[in-house]
Amino acid sequence: MPAPNIDTIVSLAKRRGFVFPSSEVYGGLGSAWDYGPLGVELCNNVKQSWWRWLVYERDDIEGIDSSIILNRLVWKYSGHEATFNDWLVDCRKCKSRFRQDKVFEKAADGSFQTKACPSCGAHDWTDARPFNTMLQTKLGAVADDDPSALAYLRPETAQGIFINFLNVQTAMRRKLPFGIAQVGKSFRNEVTPGNFILRTREFEQMEMEYFVAPDAEHSKLVDYWVEQYLDWFQSIGLIRDNLYLYEVPEDERAHYSKRTVDIMYRYFPEREKPWEELMGIAWRTDFDLSAHSKNKLDAEGKRINPDSTEDLSYFDEPTKTRFYPHVIEPAAGVNRTVLAVLMDAYSEKTNDKGETRVILKLSPHLAPIKAAILPLAKNKPEIVGMAKAIKRSLQPTLRAVYDDTGGIGKLYARQDEIGTPLCVTVDHQSLEDEAVTVRDRDTWEQERVKVSELAEHLQRRLQG
Ligand code: GAP
Repeated sequence: MPAPNIDTIVSLAKRRGFVFPSSEVYGGLGSAWDYGPLGVELCNNVKQSWWRWLVYERDDIEGIDSSIILNRLVWKYSGHEATFNDWLVDCRKCKSRFRQDKVFEKAADGSFQTKACPSCGAHDWTDARPFNTMLQTKLGAVADDDPSALAYLRPETAQGIFINFLNVQTAMRRKLPFGIAQVGKSFRNEVTPGNFILRTREFEQMEMEYFVAPDAEHSKLVDYWVEQYLDWFQSIGLIRDNLYLYEVPEDERAHYSKRTVDIMYRYFPEREKPWEELMGIAWRTDFDLSAHSKNKLDAEGKRINPDSTEDLSYFDEPTKTRFYPHVIEPAAGVNRTVLAVLMDAYSEKTNDKGETRVILKLSPHLAPIKAAILPLAKNKPEIVGMAKAIKRSLQPTLRAVYDDTGGIGKLYARQDEIGTPLCVTVDHQSLEDEAVTVRDRDTWEQERVKVSELAEHLQRRLQG
């Protein structure tokens, strides 16, 4: 039973130290969130799982970490300065401002039908006008109005990959097809952020650009990566029925895309329209590498990029031809993945006393804490000493914690709620037989294990 709604996760996340509203001491900052001690571990584990899967386990993908602030020309030639817009409308009566697609109904022919203003009910809208959602900053000690100081915080990690295509290809002696992966922060001045960590102005992306020949079977490659990601999402605990594929129609696709399939997740099970984008897989054609290249000419024979000093084309040895590779791009959000993981891991179970307990059934490799070491009696120095020693001995190989801040029932419940797969209890008998009780989060079954065999036992259970 996944979480019934996002609010259930918001409250669990705050109560148990996964995610806190940001800047709370000053009344908060709209749609900004801070990741707490457990949230940072969960995010890191998701990112590591993704990185291991693509960069380590495959042989055709390299990783990079490019700057967040790039030369402004990157965003001119990528098309973001001209087209990375939300369309806004104002209500003339109450002056409220909305994103056009949020307040107007889209007809079958793609045109917008006006609706009543959600704030005042009037039907008096201005024309829609573009609002560029790249976040601006200024570089250096310059005057406020010096246009040459303008820079952007990247709205996607992808451009850092494109401008490094040739560096990576030559340094790593790569031949097509191959990919470059990057994980990091991106920023968008979203007009309507919201729904917890689903849509924020600062977020993290896990993007991979897969470079292929111009005559490759691009559409089949999109399907291939969709299948790969469906498998990966299930390997991190997402339920297949909660994922849905959306073939994005042409009028909704980004300027660079010839085909995009979105993997949607059921973030709103309580709503009639429960789906929202988890990630997209796009065929970006040769748009980006061409756009950043000095030698690419337009239909009239003019250089499309007179500012570039490099040519990002590729020489294909077997065919002795030079071309701009095409790109298949799976682009996923860390935060949306974490939210989906939390929602699908959420479950409730009733104990013998009829009390309902929350159990977060996280995959062991994502769980922030792998094992909690709990003393049955915290006033017995020998038991406490033994439990602390066990925790210290496990720590180098797995994330373990020691906790004695409650009775054993409460301690178990707390670990279940944060997704710790195994609890290890040290009791009076442990002092005699050098053995401990290992309790399973999902079944609540208990097993007696020798301390000398504990590390191996836990590793086996966590991997199994
Ligand atoms: N390079 C292509 C690209 O950026 P996108 O669909 O705009 O494509 C990719 O973004 C993913 O990044 C989305 O599917 C989503 O998971 C995440 N994302 C985008 N905007 C976001 C936001 N404002 N808040 C949280 N995640 C976001």
